[in-house]
Amino acid sequence: MRLKHTVVLFLLLPLSVWGSSFKPAPAWLKTAAFYQIYPQSFKDTDGDGIGDINGIISKLDYLKWLGIDAIWMNPCFESSYQDAGYDVTDFYHVAKRYGTNDDLKRLFREAHKRNMRVCLDLVAGHTSIDHPWFKASQSATRNELSDRYIWTNDSTVKPERHISGKFGRNGTYRKNFFDCQPALNYGFGVPDPAQPWQLPVTAEGPQRTRKELINIIDFWMIMGCDGFRVDMAPSLIKNDPDRVETDKLWAEIRNHFQAKFPEGILIAEWGNPARAIKAGFMMDFIIHLGNNGYSSLFFNKVGTYRHDTCYFSFEGNGTPTKFVDYYLEQLKNVGDSGYLCVPTANHDFQRPNCGTRNDDAQLRTVSAFLMTIPGVPLFYYGDEIGMKFIDALPNKEGSLLSKGNRAGSRTPMQWDASEGAGFSTAGQDKFYLPIDDSAYRPNVEAQMANPSSLLHFNRKLLQLRKQYAALGTRGDIRFLYAEANKYPLVYERTANGQRFIIVINPYGKAVQAECSFSGTDKEFKPVLVDRTSLKSVKDKLQINADGVSYGIFMVN
Ligand code: NOJ
Repeated sequence: MRLKHTVVLFLLLPLSVWGSSFKPAPAWLKTAAFYQIYPQSFKDTDGDGIGDINGIISKLDYLKWLGIDAIWMNPCFESSYQDAGYDVTDFYHVAKRYGTNDDLKRLFREAHKRNMRVCLDLVAGHTSIDHPWFKASQSATRNELSDRYIWTNDSTVKPERHISGKFGRNGTYRKNFFDCQPALNYGFGVPDPAQPWQLPVTAEGPQRTRKELINIIDFWMIMGCDGFRVDMAPSLIKNDPDRVETDKLWAEIRNHFQAKFPEGILIAEWGNPARAIKAGFMMDFIIHLGNNGYSSLFFNKVGTYRHDTCYFSFEGNGTPTKFVDYYLEQLKNVGDSGYLCVPTANHDFQRPNCGTRNDDAQLRTVSAFLMTIPGVPLFYYGDEIGMKFIDALPNKEGSLLSKGNRAGSRTPMQWDASEGAGFSTAGQDKFYLPIDDSAYRPNVEAQMANPSSLLHFNRKLLQLRKQYAALGTRGDIRFLYAEANKYPLVYERTANGQRFIIVINPYGKAVQAECSFSGTDKEFKPVLVDRTSLKSVKDKLQINADGVSYGIFMVN
C-alpha cells in the first residue's frame, strides 16, 4: 500500500514539485540578446516620415554588429492608431504604412540569414473598435461574431470598464485598455449566474475566440516569425481568481505552439516573470508594471512616470533594496523553467537618458548594471547610443495616458548627423514624432566611428556576456553590497568556475564600502573598469568607487 502511494506521488512530482510540465524553452534563448524596435520610429525608406519594414531590413547588419540575436517589434498590423498599433483592425495584414506581408516575410528571411530572429507583438486581449469583428458583433441580429467581445445583455447594465454607445444590439461592451479597445471574449473564470452575458470559458463564443488567436499565431509562425511578445497577457479571461483559467489557456497555447514550432518563443507582458512562466510563457519582463522594483532604480523627476528619488541618480538619494529583493525572489521562483528580462526601457516608459541622468558616464553605469545581471538582455532602440527621453511632446496616437506621456520614448532613431538624423528623407514636419533637437544629440554613425563611444561600450558588454558564462543569462548572482540608501552596488557572478565582481556607482560622489568576502589574496583582473578598485584583506573586500563609475573584475 505504502509502495503504491510512493509510486503515485513519484508520478505526480514532475508536475508539481519539480516545476513546470512544459517542454523547455528553445536553447537559443539562453544566449540571445534582444533589441526592441518601435517600427514607426526606426527607419523610413519610403519617405513618408514613418518607419517601415524595409527600413528594419536595411539595419539588420548594424544590429548584428552590435551583438543582437533577436528582435521584438511592436505591432505592425492594420490599425486605427488610437493606441499606436495596439488597436488592431486586421491581425493578418501588415499595415500599409509599414509595408506588406511580403516585406515582413523578407524581414524574417533576412534575419534568419544572419542567424537572427524576429518576434512580433500579439495583441491578444482586444482589437480596435473599427475591427470588422467588432462591427459585426454590434448587430442586433445574432451572428457568429456576436460573442467575439464581452457584451452585457442590456444597455442599462454598465459594470466597471464597460462602455455604452449607439449600438444595434442592446448592451454595453467591456474595454481592455482605452475605450476604443474592446476586450475579446475568452470567457469568465467564474461567471456570475445573475449575469447570464458572462460566458464560461468553455462556451462556444470564447472557444472560437481562442481558436482565432491560435490561427493568428500559426499564420505568422508559418510565415517565418520566431515568436511573440503577448500584450497584456494576464488580461484575457475575466473574473478569474488566482488566474486558474488564464493558466489553462496559456498552457494550451504553449503546448500547441511547441508541438508545431519547437524553436518558437512566447514572451509575456505580465510584469511578474515567475507568474507568467508558471502560466506557460518562456520569458517575461521586470518593468514598470506591478512591483516598483524597476521604477525605484530608474524613474526620476522627468519621464512618463515620475518619482522623487531613484537609485541610478547623480544625487545619490535612492536605494537598491526594493529592486534587489524583488529581483532575487523572481530569479529564485523562475529557476530553470524560463527567463526574466530587465530591459533598458520600452515604448511605455522613459529611457535611461532622462532628466538629470543625462550624460555618457551615467548611462554607462546603467548599461554596466543591466548587461551584467542574470536574465535576457534587451536594448530598447536608441538606448545603445543614449537617446534621450524627450519631455512634453504632444499626444501622438494615444501616447498620452492620464498617468504620463509615453511619446518621449518613441521619437525617431538617430542614425547620423544630418538634419533628419538619417531617419527619413521626409520633411521633419512629417516625422512620426519630432526628433531630439539637442545640438549634440547622439547618433549611430558618429558613435560607430568612435571606439570609446557608448555604443562601443554597450557592444563590448554584449560580447562579454557571450565570452563568459558567469556574466551571461544563467550565471549565478550574489549581492555582496546592496545596502538601503547606500552606494555603490556590488555583486558577484559565477558559473563554470569563473568568478566576477561588479561594482556600480551611479552616485556623483566617491564612495567606499567593505563587505565580507571568501578568498584572501585574490587578484582582481580589470575586465571593463572605470575608476573603481577592489582589494581583499583577510575575509573582507574593500571597494573604492569614484563618482559615477563602474567596474567589472575577474577574480583569479
Ligand atoms: C501594453 C502596451 O505595451 C501599450 O503600449 C498599450 O497601450 C497597452 N498594452 C494596450 O494594448
